[in-house]
Amino acid sequence: MNSTDIKLDITKVENSRIDQVDFDNLKFGKINADHMMYCDYIDGEWQTPKIVPYGPMEIEPSAKVFHYGQAVFEGMKAFKDEDDQVWLFRPEQNFERINKSSKRLAIPEFPKDYFFNSLKTLLELDKDWVKKGGGNSLYIRPFVIATENGVSASESDQYRFMIITCPAQAYYNKPIKVIFAQEFSRAADGGVGYAKAAGNYGAQFYPTKLAKAKGLDQIIWTDASSHEYLEEAGTMNIFFRVGDKLLTAPTNDRILDGITRKSIIQLAKDNNVEVVVEKVSVKEIVKAAKNGELKEIFGAGTAATVVRVEGFEYDGEYYDLPTIDEPYGTFFKKSLQDIQYNRVEDPHGWKM
Ligand code: COI
Repeated sequence: MNSTDIKLDITKVENSRIDQVDFDNLKFGKINADHMMYCDYIDGEWQTPKIVPYGPMEIEPSAKVFHYGQAVFEGMKAFKDEDDQVWLFRPEQNFERINKSSKRLAIPEFPKDYFFNSLKTLLELDKDWVKKGGGNSLYIRPFVIATENGVSASESDQYRFMIITCPAQAYYNKPIKVIFAQEFSRAADGGVGYAKAAGNYGAQFYPTKLAKAKGLDQIIWTDASSHEYLEEAGTMNIFFRVGDKLLTAPTNDRILDGITRKSIIQLAKDNNVEVVVEKVSVKEIVKAAKNGELKEIFGAGTAATVVRVEGFEYDGEYYDLPTIDEPYGTFFKKSLQDIQYNRVEDPHGWKM
């Protein structure tokens, strides 16, 4: 990735905090790199983006984001190759998606050159925070919040677009156990499920807390009207391997159009793995678990990359998944990381 000419206000840190960080023992999202970017929307216009030392900011308690959750976000990662070059993975997709999410939440779209110029400058300044290989990355969190003061329930006329970053290792450091949702729902037809709206995630915390109390890690959400079809997990999209076929739900207005998801579908096609992008019924997965046809379930997302599901609970019964040779999950994770860390050719031009 190369820096481009940019118009930004930049205030650099006087002293980097990097020497205080134990990069071998990172808790996901807890440590932030030295700088952050923010850009305010005032009087109908995005102002000059600013890069400043990471730190607290002043926002009035009546700002609309605190009352109505008018906020969207993205998740991206930067990777460093063996020659110290920093790469982003399909960043255009994140840019397009944050504006798609913004539109649904009545937030003004952010200009492309502001986004990429700020991001590249931020990464240039904080490149030492991107560690090489071994699952290391710099997690990038762009987000937009409604900053107009006043608690009337209408869209804000002021916003703040921000980018913060955090050095990261694995989001999950072991396989996870999940439960298929039978009571709660994540998203409804005509709702905001496809958007990375902050509230989509916040609303999952309570059902997920109940699942955790039972020793499970996460929920696989089912469609809100019948609870018969498996849609998406709390922090990622979800894939099922039945026999040698890879199954995943089609995206719609309830399901996030995940970038890792679509990359895996492409990699599967490239590698002659049969992918079936159709509604996945709970019944067929439970039946396949019982007759041994269900070989794998794995989640796929930017933060998680690819994580194996070791078992699931449904209707009060727990189903262990087998440990198999050459799981697709491991293969796709390696294939993605080989591209992300610039170890192999990138035939689809995903790195930037
Ligand atoms: C990501 O994978 O980057 C996400 O945004 C999911 C998040 C809830 C951790």
